[in-house]
Amino acid sequence: MKVLVATEKPFAKAAVDGIREIVEGAGHTLALLEKYASADELLNAVADADALIVRSDKVTRDVVNAANNLKIVVRAGAGFDNLDLPACTEKDIVAMNTPGQNSNAVAELAVAMMVYMSRNQFTSGTGSELKGKTLGIQAYGNVGRLVANIARGFGMNIMAFDPFVPAEKMEAEGVTVAATLEDLYKNSNFISLHIPATPQTKGSIGRNLMSLMPKGGCVVNTARKEVINEEELIAVLAEREDLKYITDIAADRQAELNEKFGKRVFATPKKMGAETAEANINAGLAAANQIVKFFATGDTTFQLNKK
Ligand code: 3PG
Repeated sequence: MKVLVATEKPFAKAAVDGIREIVEGAGHTLALLEKYASADELLNAVADADALIVRSDKVTRDVVNAANNLKIVVRAGAGFDNLDLPACTEKDIVAMNTPGQNSNAVAELAVAMMVYMSRNQFTSGTGSELKGKTLGIQAYGNVGRLVANIARGFGMNIMAFDPFVPAEKMEAEGVTVAATLEDLYKNSNFISLHIPATPQTKGSIGRNLMSLMPKGGCVVNTARKEVINEEELIAVLAEREDLKYITDIAADRQAELNEKFGKRVFATPKKMGAETAEANINAGLAAANQIVKFFATGDTTFQLNKK
């Protein structure tokens, strides 16, 4: 079988070496398409692939239709909003992710972003400490939970809102459970976003929630830019001169945000949450192992489009 690794933002070399070892060790062949400049390159490369490994690369209906032999696609990472699941299902292509594999890297970045904003983006001026502040975690999944653990080490109070996680589970881990999302924002000096981009969450965060935050509140986004209502973000930052926004996924209107709000906003130049050797190795090798196991035994653990 031919396994194609298509990554516009390539894995670290150690991860590619590890993927190759797993794929070739199981008797399959590996093809690499890195830093491709156009969707056409992906369409050509996928034509004869039996399996596909991607990161945030968009696996659209066009990609699926161009893939004549494709049986499985694995998103090496957590969020799968880049996969057209209905298109995969229609062609009986199994779609998977590798949940949890890059979570620690993202969690470390989220906490680092809080420090960065509390210390005036490492420029002069009196900053503040995380100790004693309340961190509101919006969605207590793999990343949210790790952020809570790290932030606890800084002496922060941890609050969370997640309608999909039993309150007792969060409480048992020392988390104060917010009754509503509004309560989370009202009580948190920092909000760390860990929700996926879905029809329900897209555009859901803006003035409605940020205006509830205490003085000096800061929203940290290592999730997806799509969950932010950018119009409202700009409005609330203009109304509330104390609020801050830091993101690992630049807003569509990031240039305008930077110009209007200066040091109260920051976006990393390129999404870097999962950009560590460890995360690349964990997620890349997990993807390769899942593919090898699928071909060997039909294993569909982590399948996202189960009928
Ligand atoms: C994820 O959903 O796993 C993260 O956003 C990482 O995305 P990346 O592989 O594009 O860095």
